[in-house]
Amino acid sequence: MKRLACVVSVIAFSAVSVWAGGDDDKKPATIKEVMKKLHKGADAPLNKLKTAFKADSPDWKSIQDLSKGFVTLGADLPKNDAPKGDKADFKKLAEAYYENAKALDAGAKKKDKPAAEAAFKKVSTSCMACHKDHKPD
Ligand code: HEC
Repeated sequence: MKRLACVVSVIAFSAVSVWAGGDDDKKPATIKEVMKKLHKGADAPLNKLKTAFKADSPDWKSIQDLSKGFVTLGADLPKNDAPKGDKADFKKLAEAYYENAKALDAGAKKKDKPAAEAAFKKVSTSCMACHKDHKPD
């Protein structure tokens, strides 16, 4: 049974690789990619969420779509090594970012505005603590 599962997963994996055009699908997003996709520009999920939480009756569907992205990309942040500064310290901050992203997503799924918003505040105020030690100039 174990053997069968193994064979199946090898086939599934090869199929995925074919569809991905030979690219290494398992490679985590780089820090730069995560930063750009989530934070950069007026159209970034960070800004969209900020606006979405201001509504009296938030649009939970779009908040959930956005918060999911924070979890997916946030998971990759601690998989990277710090480009600058103490590596263990970076991991700690990156893990904290991921934890807050998960709390944001959990709150969004439950449509719990105080919980989701509190977690979002932690995400959106985490920037400087990490940049000051770990962002190359
Ligand atoms: C755990 C650490 C960490 C946290 C938290 C973090 N950043 Fe970053 N950020 C970095 C690092 C490291 C870089 C530099 C990446 C590189 O140049 O390879 C960076 C780069 C960036 C960049 C430049 C991307 C580019 O175009 O090159 C932007 C914009 C940015 N961060 C925004 C933010 C914002 C906004 C927040 C908070 C909501 C945030 N970051 C939180 C570590 C972090």
